Amino acid sequence: MDLMKALSGLNLETLKMGAKQAAQIVKLNLPKGEPYGNGAAQTPPMGWSSWNTFRNRISESLVLEVAEAMEKSGLAGAGYRHLNIDDCWQSAQRDANGRLQPDLVTFPNGMPALVQQVNARGLKLGLYSSNGTLTCEDLPASLGRETIDARTMAEWGVEYFKYDFCHNEALPMRAPCIEKLAVSALGSGRETDYYAVDASLEGGAVIVEDERLESGRYVAGLSFGGGAVVFENVEAEEDGLYAITLCIRKKSHSKKFAVIEINGAFAADTVVPPTWAMTKEGRQQLLLPLRRGCNTVRIYNPIASRFDSAAYQYARMGRELQKAAVEYAARTGLPEKKITYSICEWGLHMPWRWGAGAGNLWRTTPDIKAFWASILGIYEINVRLAQYAASGGWNDPDMLEVGNGGLNYEENRAHFSLWCMMAAPLILGNDVRTFLRPDGTPDTTNAAWQIVTNRDMIAIDQDPLGVQCRRVWTNGMQDTLVKPLANGDVAVCFFNKAAESRHFSLRINAIAAKDFVRLPFAEGYAARELWTGRGEAVAEELHATVAPHGVKVFRISAQSGA
Ligand code: GLA
Repeated sequence: MDLMKALSGLNLETLKMGAKQAAQIVKLNLPKGEPYGNGAAQTPPMGWSSWNTFRNRISESLVLEVAEAMEKSGLAGAGYRHLNIDDCWQSAQRDANGRLQPDLVTFPNGMPALVQQVNARGLKLGLYSSNGTLTCEDLPASLGRETIDARTMAEWGVEYFKYDFCHNEALPMRAPCIEKLAVSALGSGRETDYYAVDASLEGGAVIVEDERLESGRYVAGLSFGGGAVVFENVEAEEDGLYAITLCIRKKSHSKKFAVIEINGAFAADTVVPPTWAMTKEGRQQLLLPLRRGCNTVRIYNPIASRFDSAAYQYARMGRELQKAAVEYAARTGLPEKKITYSICEWGLHMPWRWGAGAGNLWRTTPDIKAFWASILGIYEINVRLAQYAASGGWNDPDMLEVGNGGLNYEENRAHFSLWCMMAAPLILGNDVRTFLRPDGTPDTTNAAWQIVTNRDMIAIDQDPLGVQCRRVWTNGMQDTLVKPLANGDVAVCFFNKAAESRHFSLRINAIAAKDFVRLPFAEGYAARELWTGRGEAVAEELHATVAPHGVKVFRISAQSGA
């Protein structure tokens, strides 16, 4: 599928049919793959991030104050363990070894020391970069530096990594034309040639005659996921690193991209620059491991659209992070610090389709803002994506704005409840230092504190079944949401978007009959409203009146013996 088809599929059809149906239309070339499986984020991650309140005004001392507030206000005890520093922690200058380093002035003691102090409060430090040449605030980022940056994160003890999409450069969809593979034992000064004309061709790969090459022939047709060339008998005298040179026919002013698999596993990828050269023969050289005896080297370009490109680039960083965390633990003998990997490309490339194979959570929408229309707009997108969320891989409707901006009490409560119902990551975005009284005890009268520490609501979000709520009924202004829970209960949320109070009712047996729910049929049910704590017995129908922009959330269980 080419880019134009993919995009026209998105533009026309997404608008008409919504994200879920559009997902059937735009075909991703890359296989969905296995779940990411790094073992992190078995329930939606909980914590705090600097971005929503502090933007670029962050520092080591702010982070330490926030850490203290998270511990002493009871947030950490309630489950908010990640303390994530968003954009603007970096110096514009990488260090002499090419590694990222924090701003030399605002983070004077460096990251390892900060991680230690944050860990001492029972919290885990998170950092941020972009899948681009720079971050959104134009600081150094990680595209093309995945390996070194992932290693740096692991070595510093970082346990959450948010990866943004600013300054991204899409991977080329064209592949180089390959005449042969030249393999050399390092230092030998000799090469063994393996000609494409003798290799196996897959898909649309074809041999093209070209008298300007020494051998007169090269393989083409590897672009846009169209084919592969497989060299099956690449000999090595012993296990080790070899100089493997793709001898290519230089062509055109566009960049080319190729993935190299050795013996069935990913070995490397490489970008071939646009040519300015006078000669036609290029040497794209890589240093790659071969094992003693016969090796299979497969070369192809899987990128057939910008969707593939984003999916590929995010998966690539995910692999590096996972590898870096495991390797660092093995090298030092320290327990592995799993890195929760947060994909943040704003829902542009349908990350719900490929995110579970690439990371632990993926933003589904543009940035959240602290006003009602933003909360509502994001909810409307994310609520449709329930089928994609599961333990270890979550839809991310962005960080919380509870306590920020122009949200009133009902709206703050609704925002938090909707995120809990949607099994969303609960990453606070307010100034949590305001949750502490001057004497260092929690300010339990603070309305935002009361909302975000509601243990019953948090339990809905963190329920180990890991299922995002479904919208079972709506009339446009009123939604009824249902989330099945591990012990057979269900959470039901009545959400009123209207500007005046509205009445809701729900026949509970009709919910028990739904396939995705485990609630047993019963003569009667117990319903407890999680904001008031009030319980009631319900024979058939649950009734409630809900304030404008408000919610009522019930935990419903079948009554035994009823
Ligand atoms: C993007 C992200 C935000 C935040 C900023 C930082 O806009 O979506 O969540 O990380 O970048 O610059």
